[in-house]
Formats: sequence, C-alpha cells, structure tokens
Amino acid sequence: MREIRVELGERSYPVVVGSGARHRLGELIPIGATRAAVVSQEAIPWPVDCGVEQRTFFLDEGEDAKNLESVEELCRAFAKWGMHRIDVVVAVGGGVVTDVAGFAAAVYHRGIAVVHVPTTLLGQVDAAIGGKTGVNLPEGKNLVGAIWQPAAVLCDTETLTTLPPREYRSGLGEMAKYAFLGVPGLRDLSLDDAVAACVACKADVVGSDERESGRRAVLNYGHTLAHALETTGGYDLRHGEAVAIGLVFAARLARRLGRVDADRVAEHEAVVAAYDLPMRPPPGWDAHDLITVMARDKKATNGGLTFVLDGPNGLEVVTGVAADAVEATLGEFER
Ligand code: GLY
Repeated sequence: MREIRVELGERSYPVVVGSGARHRLGELIPIGATRAAVVSQEAIPWPVDCGVEQRTFFLDEGEDAKNLESVEELCRAFAKWGMHRIDVVVAVGGGVVTDVAGFAAAVYHRGIAVVHVPTTLLGQVDAAIGGKTGVNLPEGKNLVGAIWQPAAVLCDTETLTTLPPREYRSGLGEMAKYAFLGVPGLRDLSLDDAVAACVACKADVVGSDERESGRRAVLNYGHTLAHALETTGGYDLRHGEAVAIGLVFAARLARRLGRVDADRVAEHEAVVAAYDLPMRPPPGWDAHDLITVMARDKKATNGGLTFVLDGPNGLEVVTGVAADAVEATLGEFER
C-alpha cells in the first residue's frame, strides 16, 4: 500500500493507493463522527464499512446526475436522517459521485467532512484529489462548485477490476495528461505505481497552489477543448476521451503559435495512440460552437481564448489566443 500526503497545513490529508485500500476506511473516518452518509450509485459493486452508523444514498447514473437538484436531494436526505456537522460523507464512485457528494459535503451545515473512495481510474488519478467539487449548468460544465478538501482519499485499485473497458480507457486519458506534467515512464509502471505517481504529481501541484491562482491550472492541460466537446456534444464522449483529443489539439495549437515543434506534437499523438484513445472528435462537431463554449470557459479572459499550452518553459497558461488560430487548428481534425 502506498500513502501520499496532500500537504495543506491543517487541512493536509493522506491518499492511500493500492489493492484493498478501501478496507482502511474505518481508521480514516474523522474522530468524533457518529454517522457516515455513503453516497454512491446502484451499479457500483463496492460496499464499504465506515466503522460508524452508516446509510447509503444513491445518485442516478451518468453526467446528467451532476446537477444542483442532486445536491439538494442529498442535503435534504442528510437533514431528514439527522446528520450533524461532526458527521461525514463518504463518496464511493467515479467523478460524478466525487463532484456531487463533495459539493453536498461542502455546503451541508456550511461544510462537513468528506472521505473519497474513487472507484474509477479517472477518479483515482484526478477527480478525487485536490478538493474540486461541483456540478454542471445547462450553460456549461462545472460552473457551480467549491474547493472542499477531503479528510482522506482511498484509491483502491481492486475496484478498477470491474470497470467497463471504455470507462477504464477514459481514465487513461487523464493519466496521459501526466506524461506531459513531468511524470516519466508512466506506461512502464505497474497500475498501482502509475496511479501513485499521478497522485503524487497532483498532490505536489495542489499543495503549491490549492485555489488555482497559478500553477494548478496546468492540471487543466487538454481540458479547454475537452469541456467544450463534452458540452456541445451532449456528453456522448467520456471525459478522458475528450481530454485525449484535447491534448492532441493543445499540442497542435502550441505548434501553430510557434511554441513547440512537430516532434513534440508527434509525442502527444504517440502517447494518446498508445493508450488507444481517440485523436479527433466524433463526427458532427462544429468549430464555431466549440469556440463559443471555450470563450465561456472559467479561464477565458477578454480579448482572446485561454489555454494551457506546452512551450519552451513547459506547460503554462496562455491568454489572448486568437479565435482564428483556434479555428485553423480545429480544421486540422478534418484532414
Ligand atoms: N482536475 C483539475 C484539478 O483538480 O485542478
């Protein structure tokens, strides 16, 4: 079992990675909690033992459940059960569960403890670490949320054995991102070591910039186009698949802007191809729709679009990118 700490002063917490990590839940429930609200989905076959009185609350399946109504329903159910500020939410599931349960924990009684038990690869290497929680609005993904750090995260790699292949592959899209964030040789590591290496990278970034006033933005590499694809495409792409397309796009955009050379673009394409992930959007995408949504992105500023782009100094946030350059780079998907 590997243990990595996210260092945030008094709010520091452990991330336990390994097969069977969920069995350490009882010892990581915050002291004093008398009730644990386990938030999960019916299809997730991983019961947990919190070591205190517990009750399970199910969210609907799919990205559509990531809305304010789900948060309200959870908070009302917590209230009916009589949960207090000392109690704890335990989120068992993928990114949707982490985001919705984490946000409900952030706002219920103005904030109660949450422990994440991510059961998807995507959750283990990204969504469950770092405290981002939130839900979608019809106008875009993750537009309402809070940064609410968990008390602990248990990345049980045994839970990945039951993932549908497409869901697992989607997690590889998020893992591929870390290849460009300075994690070397990811594909040569065992699954446990690869997850732990991604967690350690993310823990380091979050520990240095919790509220994304600078460095943390590099974790959004590939995500600007990914979010736009998910929004305009009605979510028929998995998140990690969209990120994979976004990574290839970001590399090509960086090349168009003279920041990287063709070899670096080829490296991006090779990593994405090696994980058997898509390199172009599904048919039906529209450049103007994508640019409209990207311009609405939380990271966008007036006078151009904003992307995390590779360059001579590594990944950095680049503002003021002209829509023409973005449109031309999107056009490369048509070749
Ligand atoms: N998923 C990006 C972040 O946590 O900052």
